[in-house]
Amino acid sequence: MNEVANTDSPVIEKVAKHDIGSAVAVAGHPIHAMSVHFPVALVIATLGSDVFYWFSGDPFFLRAGTWAAGFAFATGVAAGIVGTLELLLVRGIRSRVASWTHAIAAMTLISIAGMNWGVRLVDTGLVLPYGLGLSVLASIFTGLAGWHGGKLVFDHGVGLIISPKG
Ligand code: HEM
Repeated sequence: MNEVANTDSPVIEKVAKHDIGSAVAVAGHPIHAMSVHFPVALVIATLGSDVFYWFSGDPFFLRAGTWAAGFAFATGVAAGIVGTLELLLVRGIRSRVASWTHAIAAMTLISIAGMNWGVRLVDTGLVLPYGLGLSVLASIFTGLAGWHGGKLVFDHGVGLIISPKG
């Protein structure tokens, strides 16, 4: 059910009329929705590596954490570029407050993921405790960004159809 369309506010009614289809899609599949799984999984994989390193002291997990953190950042930037294109190109997406809430949470996540990778490149001795702390923070922001991204799709119906701009 689209909760936005059910209000009496003329502003929200107007917003509800704008196009909310995906503008960046391949064969009818929105690329952002396809790509977000990579940063989500890799941020959690970084946290897992740090926890295993903390418990075992095995340097394998130190290396695994550095690779996971690097790819979490790179795939987060890639997903973020596509998400930003959707936000800027589609009127019904950029006029929704929920889109900007998601974008701010996601950009904060990408920044933390970048810092988490950088810390490891500078000195792996910083992984405990700073890398682990950043991995926890990145996981929290992944949850926030993912939750709000899901709300965009399942509550607002964003990206369910392909925009004429796609
Ligand atoms: C940084 C800028 C970002 C912007 C502006 C943005 C924007 C959007 C938009 C407009 C949607 C609606 C679906 C679509 O139109 O394709 C969406 C969905 C979503 N986004 Fe983002 N996004 C960004 C980054 C991220 C990142 C880094 C993640 C990873 C945590 C993420 C996770 C999600 C999820 C999980 C969904 C729901 C997809 C689904 O269930 O099909 N987003 N985002």
